[in-house]
Amino acid sequence: MTILLTGAAGYIGSHTAVALAEAGYDVAIVDDFSNSSPEAVRRCEALTGKKMPLYEADVADKAAMARIFAETKPAAVIHFAGHKAVGESVAKPLKYYRNNLDTTLSLLECMADAGCKRFIFSSSATVYGAKAAVPYTEESETGGCTNPYGWTKFMIEQIAGGVAKADPAMSVVLLRYFNPVGAHPSGRIGENPSGIPNNLMPYITQVAVGRLPHLNVFGDDYDTPDGTGVRDYIHVVDLAAGHVKALEYALSHTGTEVFNLGTGHGVSVLELVHAFEAATGVKVPYVIAPRRPGDLASVYADCSKAKRVLGWKAEKTVQDMCADSWRWQSNNPNGY
Ligand code: UD1
Repeated sequence: MTILLTGAAGYIGSHTAVALAEAGYDVAIVDDFSNSSPEAVRRCEALTGKKMPLYEADVADKAAMARIFAETKPAAVIHFAGHKAVGESVAKPLKYYRNNLDTTLSLLECMADAGCKRFIFSSSATVYGAKAAVPYTEESETGGCTNPYGWTKFMIEQIAGGVAKADPAMSVVLLRYFNPVGAHPSGRIGENPSGIPNNLMPYITQVAVGRLPHLNVFGDDYDTPDGTGVRDYIHVVDLAAGHVKALEYALSHTGTEVFNLGTGHGVSVLELVHAFEAATGVKVPYVIAPRRPGDLASVYADCSKAKRVLGWKAEKTVQDMCADSWRWQSNNPNGY
């Protein structure tokens, strides 16, 4: 059975491609490499010993996508492709709305044309915006996003849900990721941000490897135990396993279902820095900097629904997250 993954040369998609191949699925990938490298897919093939047909195309290109659907005949689609830099989305909102919405609309139209009824989407905890109280459950209020990137996730959830409502044979699973970190334990695939990283873990590893001088800790006066921001970091290998479970669910159900994928535990910026130092023996110099606009004090998940319905829960520790991120970064100091 073939599963078509969009954007799977990227961070979460590549780890999911490995997990799906190991679970016995055939994986086909479409990516435009606008923010990723085909080398990631070659390494996924080497890790699993399975071929992963790779198509270079823009998911918004319906003619190209129709050919890919005809060739691969996927039983389901997992949609990772999309622009994801929060700050850039504030500066270039139309780029984000145009790309993230166009690709998804074309993809859903191609799925309808091809009779493919199973759609799994990379959503984000960012859809909860600033309104809900932690821990977020899937019933917590959404909307009130603080940036266009978040709004595209929110809008795509509405669009996919509407498609499933109109077609009773359709299955849509919306996965709201918390903060993915870590890398495959082999150190062969991992997160490869272009330019200076926006997110905390890649920033820490680039300081540790000597590419950046020090970490800026954005605020130490939040209402949290040590004053720094608290997030729900989840190992990307656990997250990938969640996709395999979500796929099994999508293949045997119809309608729309939403799942939080996190650990349920909050970890502060300084706790993560100290865990990284303990796991790797490498010092991470830091300075306290002003708060970053748009940041919340504390964000973590209630993941009981994924456990109850999918039989999934995160297994890896913060130490695993740090050790695996570091193995990837130190083995590949310049990425792919
Ligand atoms: C961010 C996005 C979120 C997106 C996610 C992808 C915002 C408001 N949210 O989440 O929409 O889905 O990335 O992973 O941008 N920090 C530092 N120094 C740094 C970087 C981060 O102190 O150099 C702190 C932040 O203030 C925050 C924590 O580390 O408290 C995590 O930040 P980050 O990794 O950027 O993730 P989020 O902001 O939670």
